[in-house]
Amino acid sequence: MTTTPKDDKKTAPPTGMKKGLTSYGDAGFSLFLRKAFIKGAGYTDTALDRPVIGITNTGSAYNPCHGNMPQLIEAVKRGIMLAGGLPMDFPTISVHESFAAPTSMYLRNLMSMDTEEMLLAQPMDAVVLIGGCDKTVPAQLMGAASAGLPAIQLITGSMLTGSHRSERVGACTDCRRYWAKFRAEEISAEEKDEVNNQLVASVGTCSVMGTASTMACIAEALGMTVPGGASPPAVTADRIRIAEETGARAVQMAIDGLTIDKVLTPAAFENALRVLLAIGGSTNGIVHLAAIAGRLGLDIDLPALDRMGRDTPVLLDLKPSGQHYMEDFHHAGGMATLLRELKPLLNLDAMTVTGRTLGEELEAQGPGFKQDVVRPFDKPIFPQGGIAVLYGNLAPGGAIIKQSAADAKLMEHEGRAVVFENAADLANRVDDPDLDVTADDILVLKNIGPKGAPGMPEAGYLPIPIKLARAGVKDMVRISDGRMSGTGYGTIVLHVTPESAVGGPLAYVRSGDRIRLSVKNREISLLVSAEELAQRALVNPIVEPTAARGYKKLFLQTVTQADKGVDFDFLRGAQSKGKTPR
Ligand code: FES
Repeated sequence: MTTTPKDDKKTAPPTGMKKGLTSYGDAGFSLFLRKAFIKGAGYTDTALDRPVIGITNTGSAYNPCHGNMPQLIEAVKRGIMLAGGLPMDFPTISVHESFAAPTSMYLRNLMSMDTEEMLLAQPMDAVVLIGGCDKTVPAQLMGAASAGLPAIQLITGSMLTGSHRSERVGACTDCRRYWAKFRAEEISAEEKDEVNNQLVASVGTCSVMGTASTMACIAEALGMTVPGGASPPAVTADRIRIAEETGARAVQMAIDGLTIDKVLTPAAFENALRVLLAIGGSTNGIVHLAAIAGRLGLDIDLPALDRMGRDTPVLLDLKPSGQHYMEDFHHAGGMATLLRELKPLLNLDAMTVTGRTLGEELEAQGPGFKQDVVRPFDKPIFPQGGIAVLYGNLAPGGAIIKQSAADAKLMEHEGRAVVFENAADLANRVDDPDLDVTADDILVLKNIGPKGAPGMPEAGYLPIPIKLARAGVKDMVRISDGRMSGTGYGTIVLHVTPESAVGGPLAYVRSGDRIRLSVKNREISLLVSAEELAQRALVNPIVEPTAARGYKKLFLQTVTQADKGVDFDFLRGAQSKGKTPR
């Protein structure tokens, strides 16, 4: 097909390769030049006239959770071409939990900015976002929500489980369990090294209901994946088929103009929050959902989320709240099995990337079958939602606890605070034989919030002091302004807001103070008078952390608190659209 500069000007709005032309002051020349360069890679005009579908390539030698990226991209491309589109894969930042210092969360917003800007800068009519490891899916959904194109999420999929001396193991709940056994001298250094070979049995994301699995389920609940997109393990044929289907679907989304704002509605966020509670999902899911919703001008209403939790049982029997792994969830029918049980509580009219509603998709999945991973609604693994929101003078802006992974005996507890000023102080003293601590005390860690560390690391899972661990203590109440890995467990209060580094009340807690935790009353209180706390603030005023240059400077100047998703303030949606859930 031949076109003249005059013909090109008539085409509005531009699509495919004609989108987002580089500025040379002459649009016709810009397109002419672009085509010349892409033809250097051997493309024909016929190929270049098709809808262009971008594919984010987040493969990296530093990211084994995305180790199946080449196979996924190949399958996505096949789906796109079968549906008449032109696939164009391109790299963005990839962030892995164990290979990002000081913490992957510090880089999530950077990845979201990379994703948003590359989606806008390069010509594409729709995009397939391929992510899996904890921060990648949130970053991609945040960036895509801001970019506003038709977008569809493809999850890399979970790893397989391994076997250690006939016991089934998988990252990362069992990593923590075995490390705790080693610290308590229950296993030898040799056995510790032996199990290290088995915890991650293949490429893919953590095999329990950690943050990666949580975000996979949330992506499907949001309507952002094809049906069944959350659960197939990384190395299975099912995962590859999902990838092909995702590619094909992206082409139709481009043709239909099914932009992300039509999918990520308040109704979709309500469904996602409902699912987060029902799967006993990672507490990080709240922070990420707050950030994604924030990009669209929506705020997460924490008290409303807590109310939602009171009538949402935990149905999914997966570690760390239960006993199974992600591959078992997949064999049990995946998200369709869960959503079927939750049906009366869901917004079934929410639109999905398929162009059909969640209710229509569920209908199409047909009836369920007998399985033991997703419990019936009236026989839950835990009667209320996995996550409870706490308030009190220690956390005026809220704090959360994953009650489904906590010790029931400790959820109503008053004790003496044993305070660590920061992560380094914790590392130096927690195992000191002279540390004044008993099993009834409450461990408090400051300065691991969004600005404090910085990046709000997953350091909220404070270790049990070694002398108590060796005496058989498995759990204690622990409080911090940090986060916890979704694979962690225990009576752990997280996301205390405002954080200590910006002068939240947590900053003024001292060893010996009394603290009361009552999950039943949703209370976290420091039993110290307001006058005494004001006096402490006067004597020891907080100096907020700063940086001289670079990304750290941007981070410290603009990062928001946990209730706003720890996003940068300038990336939030310009227009406020209210709160969710209703
Ligand atoms: Fe990537 Fe757990 S480390 S999902």
